[in-house]
Formats: sequence, C-alpha cells, structure tokens
Amino acid sequence: MCGIVGYIGEGDIKGFLLEGLKELEYRGYDSAGIAILQNDNLHIAKAVGKLDNLIQKSKNIKTKGFGVGIGHTRWATHGKPTELNAHPHQGVFSYVVHNGIIENFKEIKAQLDAQFVSQTDTEVIVHLFEKYFNQTKEAKKAFEQTIKRLKGAYAILLITKADPNKIFFAKKGSPLIIGKNEKEIFFASSDAPLIGHAKEVHYLEDDEWGVASAHTMELYKNGGGKSKLSFQPLTIDKEYAQKGGYRFFMEKEIYEQSDVIGDTMMGRVEEGDVHFEEIEEGFFDGIDAIKICACGTSYHAGLSGSYLLQRLARIPTSSEIASEFRYKEPILRKDTLFIVISQSGETADTLEALKMAKAAGLKTLAICNVDNSSIVRLADRTILTRAGIEKGVASTKAFTTQVMVLWMLALLLAKQRATLTQEKIDEETKAMLQTPKALKVLPQLHERLKRLSKRYLHGHGFFFIGRDLFYPLALEGALKLKEISYLHAEGYPAGEMKHGPIALADPELFTIALMPRTLLYDKIKSNVEELSARDSTICSIGHEWFELADDFIQIRRWTHPMLEYYDMSVVLQLLAMEIAIRLGNDVDMPRNLAKSVTVE
Ligand code: AGP
Repeated sequence: MCGIVGYIGEGDIKGFLLEGLKELEYRGYDSAGIAILQNDNLHIAKAVGKLDNLIQKSKNIKTKGFGVGIGHTRWATHGKPTELNAHPHQGVFSYVVHNGIIENFKEIKAQLDAQFVSQTDTEVIVHLFEKYFNQTKEAKKAFEQTIKRLKGAYAILLITKADPNKIFFAKKGSPLIIGKNEKEIFFASSDAPLIGHAKEVHYLEDDEWGVASAHTMELYKNGGGKSKLSFQPLTIDKEYAQKGGYRFFMEKEIYEQSDVIGDTMMGRVEEGDVHFEEIEEGFFDGIDAIKICACGTSYHAGLSGSYLLQRLARIPTSSEIASEFRYKEPILRKDTLFIVISQSGETADTLEALKMAKAAGLKTLAICNVDNSSIVRLADRTILTRAGIEKGVASTKAFTTQVMVLWMLALLLAKQRATLTQEKIDEETKAMLQTPKALKVLPQLHERLKRLSKRYLHGHGFFFIGRDLFYPLALEGALKLKEISYLHAEGYPAGEMKHGPIALADPELFTIALMPRTLLYDKIKSNVEELSARDSTICSIGHEWFELADDFIQIRRWTHPMLEYYDMSVVLQLLAMEIAIRLGNDVDMPRNLAKSVTVE
C-alpha cells in the first residue's frame, strides 16, 4: 500500500503534490518524495518518515509556470524505509513513482546493466524504460514496452526529460484515477486528493496505460488497441472519499480484505511453494518449538496459527496473551522460536514480551503491519502483513492477513521439516490462492446480515462457539461484537459448554455457532444440539443447512477449512458491525478504546 499523485499544468505543482500526499498518508507513511520537471529543470526531494519531513525538505523548491510533477508516499514492501528506497526513483533522465509490487523485478534487474541505488522492486521500471528509450528514441513506445514486461501489481506515473511535458501512466491491480479541469490534469490513488481540484475523473481499469499532456490524453489497453476515456463529474466530499464511499472505515476495511490478502501473498505464495524474502535459509535451524505472544485480535490470530503450525509443521506451538506471559516467570528455552504478532507494532505488553525473549537469547520473529515500528525494529526478523493502514479501532484486515502469514509460515516449516507430502503442499497453496474469493463480500450476504442484525440487539448475552481452528475465530467474533456494540459476548470452545456455561442457556442467550462442513462438523453439531435442547436461540454459520437453527447464515461451499474460516471471518465482522450500527454506536471509534495500546 502506497499512495501516488501527479500533476500537469501551470498551477501550484508542489502545493498539489504535497497536499495530495497528505490525503494519501493513510496508505503508508514510512517515507515520501516528489519530483517536478519544468522543461529541463528537475526538482526532487525525498524524506524518511511522516510527510511533514518532506514538507520541510522541499521548502526550497520554488516553481513557476508550466510543469509536470509526481509524488509518492510509501509503505515499504521491498527494502527498508530509507531515503534511497523512497520514491521517485530515477534513472539518467527519467523519474518514476509506483504503488504495488513488481513480482519479476529480480529477473528484470539481472538483465539490466544500469546502476541500481535502491533495494526496491520499483527501480527496475525506470531503468527498463530508459533502456527501451535508448533503443527506440520514442518515449511512448519505450513506456509501452516497459509495461509489457512487468508482472505483479502496479499504478505507475513516469516523467522524463526525453519528453518533458507529459506524464506516462499505467494501472494493474493498484488504484489510479485521472482528474481534470479546464487547465490542469491530475493523477491520484484515490479521489481524496482530487477534491477541490478536478471537476471530472476517469477511473482507470486494470491493464490500461497511456500518456497525458496539458492538451492531449491517450489511453491504451496493454496488449490491445486504444481504450476509451470516460470522464464523469467528481461530486463527492472529502470524508466520503477517504472512506471510499463506505459508511465507516471498518466497513471499507472489511471489503478491502479480499484485495489486501493478495498483497500479503504476493511474491510469497505460488502453487506448490511458499517462501519469504525476509527469512534467509537456515533461520529456523535448531528450532524445536514455537511460542506466540500477542494481545487482543492479534492473540486470536496467534491462537489460530498455533493450530496450523502444529497440524501442518508438527511443531509444538503455544500461544499466549502478552500481558499474562510477562509476569508468569516463563521458562524460555533457546530451541524455541518466539513470534510476536501486532498490527501496530507498538503494543506495550507485546513489546515487553519480545524484550524478555530477546534477553533470554531466543530467536525472534515479528508479524506486523507497520514497518519501522518498535516491534519491527527490535525483532530479529519481520514478516510484514501488508494490510495497509487500518483505521477502524476494531481490527479486521490486520487479523485476516496475520492469519495468512501464520498459515504460510506453517507451510514453509512443513516443507523444511518434511512433514507434508508435495501433494498436500499443493493442496494447501491452492487453497491459499483462493482466499481472495473467500474474503469477497457478497452483496446478498451483507444485505441478509443487515436485516438479521435487528434480532440481536437485546438479550443477556452471546456465546460464539467453535471447535479447533474455529475456536479462536469464535473468540475473535465475540471480541468484534463486544468492542463495537457494547453487548456482552464470549467466545467458547463448543465442547466445553457442557462443563458450565450451558447453565446459562435460555431463549435470551444467543449462540452464534461456527459450523464448518470440513472440520469436526458432527462434533460441533452435537454441541449445538445440546444448546438447542435447552432453548438457547441458535444462529448457525456454515454451508450445511442446520435444522435446529433459529437463524442460518449460509457461507459458500468450500473444500478447505481455511476457506470456510475466511468466509466466516467476514460474516462475523459484518454481523458485529451491523448490530453496532443499529445500536447507533461509532463503529470506528468505540468508547473507551484506542487503536494502539502503548501502556501496560
Ligand atoms: C481488536 O479489534 C482490537 N483493536 C485490539 O484487540 C488489538 O488487536 C490489540 O490491542 C492488539 O493490537 P496490536 O495488534 O496493534 O498489537
């Protein structure tokens, strides 16, 4: 997740670029940069950290008259957040900004004899462009050839002294919008930077690329002919734009999951194989056990991971709540890999647990969403979840991407420890590659949950129950509901209900039963039957119609438990959100909570 902006015209180029980046800062803020070209004069500034640093650094850039400019705010995927890795990246006479991941950058890099200065995947774009330009002497042709070579996801803006008054642009997978008024052309990753500037916008489709100048705009389809520009009036206001048209950031983030999970897997999963660039061979040598430590939702992801790691990699794994772990005088053995999970990378208890593990000499690994956070800086290795900034206090996309990293890790370890056959690994990776589908919100499902939510606004409490992997998911479903609806909810292992909690069963006790068809279906069925016999109101979530359910939420038919897990995650998030909305709560900023808990 990064944000890009572009400008062509005679107005305040620097002002538009910096203001635009401010609007996009939520997409990443580990570094930022701008490049402005006025005929042959180039102004470039880059800075690590928040945008204010770039504003300071670009103070001396003064522009007057016509020019073109590009800007970028970065969320590191390849290479640390340093000034050298910050965009725009430059060749000898051209400059590029890019949002996305170029999967085949290593292969392209190996074929170029250019001087590379960064560790990013993006830099290949500008060198490749210049190589083709030097051959063809035609910037448009060179850009087209460049785009044809790229695999992965991208939104690209490129400016060049070879054809100085234009912006070359391309989109695949990552968002890119063109805006215009009578005098100026704008580019941005979302509507927000364009509001107040552009009167009309064109939303680029995947595989479209083109070239724009002050007076002309050409649009093409990669591998095809010309494409049609269809500008429409830009009428929305700023807040609406930031939320992408959704009512709450939480809703936007739930819907985003099916895309961001692709970012989490990008360059890491292919059919039959999983690897992490950030973990060198041999890192796991000597590891015989795993301990996972985290808080809240991240703990629930960790608990899910412990089932996956044990099952797939046959490695003893335990998951603990960081605030408990810290004071129990834990026994820490050097053959244990210590994994911390955190969206923010700043949670005090998780950070302290990590310090304890480091002090005891354990190998440490962070699964985190925020690069350069305290936890990332301290851990031996980090796998970034690449979920993009999560604004809703109730964690959604951070959770599903954390679980994905753990699933990938379990498979990587299974491969290294030879605990699975290649056939089984193929099966797992095939399922992984289907998760974007499982996380896709179906409009009819959302509509059903909206309606259903009105039946769950009262009562004396909710039990979310599940077994195996679906037990941590039940915990997560209950946490989602309680933190935004303020209703009492508990997650419980379904088989454990008869050891006490079943005493609470009556029609005013709502049981949300997670009933996957691919994992222990008959077992969970008996547990739910026991509750139904005691008159608890049952809402079952699964694919198989369950006759004792008072309400039934049907998910799609999947053949892998993790796909049922992901499908159900979306159901639980939406259900909690719709109940909270009906109760009139501020879903994005629930009472008494903070997004990042930096105190003990
Ligand atoms: C969940 O929706 C919460 N916002 C909360 O439980 C959160 O997961 C917890 O505070 C841990 O935060 P972290 O992932 O940033 O470490």
